[in-house]
Amino acid sequence: MTSEPIGLALVGCGRISAAHLSALADCNPLFRLIATVDPDLQAAQAAAEPFGAKSFLTMTEALRLPDVEAVLIASPNALHFEQAMSAIDAGKHALVEKPIAETGAQALALAKAAEAVELVLAAGHTFRHGPAVQSLMEHLPTFGKLMSVEVSQCVFWDGPQAPWWADRSPVEGLILSLFAPHALDFVQLVMGKEDPLRVHAEAARHQSGWQAEDEAMMLLAYPDRKMVSIHISYNQPHVHDRKTLFFDKGVAEIEDGEILRWNGDVLVEPAADILSDRNKMGGRDLSHYFGAQLSEFAKAVHGEQHHCPTGEDAARLIELIDLVREQALRNSGGAINPKFGEKN
Ligand SMILES: NC(=O)c1ccc[n+]([C@@H]2O[C@H](COP(=O)([O-])OP(=O)(O)OC[C@H]3O[C@@H](n4cnc5c(N)ncnc54)[C@H](O)[C@@H]3O)[C@@H](O)[C@H]2O)c1
Repeated sequence: MTSEPIGLALVGCGRISAAHLSALADCNPLFRLIATVDPDLQAAQAAAEPFGAKSFLTMTEALRLPDVEAVLIASPNALHFEQAMSAIDAGKHALVEKPIAETGAQALALAKAAEAVELVLAAGHTFRHGPAVQSLMEHLPTFGKLMSVEVSQCVFWDGPQAPWWADRSPVEGLILSLFAPHALDFVQLVMGKEDPLRVHAEAARHQSGWQAEDEAMMLLAYPDRKMVSIHISYNQPHVHDRKTLFFDKGVAEIEDGEILRWNGDVLVEPAADILSDRNKMGGRDLSHYFGAQLSEFAKAVHGEQHHCPTGEDAARLIELIDLVREQALRNSGGAINPKFGEKN
C-alpha cells in the first residue's frame, strides 16, 4: 500500500538546507514540501520556488497550515528547542538538526512532550544512516565482545561558516555543540542503552575567528570495562575520519564514513564517485546520508520500523555533551579563553 506524501515545512534555509532540499527532491513521493521559513525571505523563497511551496518569515505562519504534518528544523542551534517545542505543540512531527537543544534538560523536555502526544521527534544525526554504519550494526553481534572504541573526526573550517558560529561562547560550546553529536551518536549506537560511568574531557581553541573550543578530546568509561576515546577537530586540513572498534575476536574499522573492514577484510565499499578526494573538505559526497535520513524519518512518521534516533536517545546524547562541556571548561578553560582559566 502506498501512503500519501508527508506535508513538510522546512524551517531555516541556510547552508545545510541545500542538502535537505536536494534529498527532498530525490525523496519524492515520500514528502511534499509545503512551506519554507526564514527571516531572510529571499532565502525562504529560493528554497520554496522549485517545489511550488509557500514561503514565510516566521514558523508560526507555516505551523498554521493544516497540510503541514511535519517540520524539518535547520535553523541555528540556539533556536532548536523553542522551535521544536512549537512544532510539537502544533501537533507536527519534527526532524531537528543536531543538537536538538542546547542542554540535556531541554532535550529531555522535548522528548517527553513528543512522546506524550505520540509525535515523532527525530534528531539529525545524519551519519548513522550510511551503509558502513548500518552494516556494522548488523554485524555487531557476530564480532564478539566489544572492549574499546576510538573515534577520530578531524576536519578543517577556516573560521565561522555561519555568522552565529562566531558568537557562541565557551559555555555554549562550538565544536562540542556542532560536531560532537555526530561522534557521540556513533558511540551511542554501538553502546546501546548504556551510558558512560565516567567522563574526562579536554578542549582547546586554535583559531581566533570564534570564541569557543575548536578541538576536543573525550575519554569515556562504560560499564563492563569498555572504554571510548574521541578526538574532534576543526583544524585539520588533511581530513581524517576513522572509527576503530576493538572486540575480543578482532578489529572493525570505518574509514571516511564509507569503508567498513573486519580484521582487514573489506565488508562495505562506497560507489566509485562517493569518495572523490577523501582527505579534502568537500571531497566526500554526503548527499546519500541526507536522503536515507529522510526515508527513515518518513518510516518513523508512518509508524514503521526505522533507524532514526529517538528523542530519548538525543536527550541522553546532549546530557553527555553537558558533562563534556563542563569538564572541558574546568580542565582546560584557559586553552579556550584565558578568562576561563590559566592559559596553557
Ligand atoms: N547534519 C549535518 O551534517 C549538519 C551539517 C551542517 C549543519 N547542521 C546543523 O544545521 C543547522 C543550521 O546550520 P547551517 O550551517 O545551515 O546554518 P546557517 O546559518 O547557514 O542557516 C540557518 C538559517 O536559519 C535561518 N534562521 C535564523 N533565524 C531563524 C528563525 N527564527 N526561523 C527560521 N529560520 C531562521 C537563517 O537566516 C539561516 O538562513 C545547525 O543546527 C547545524 O548544527 C547539520
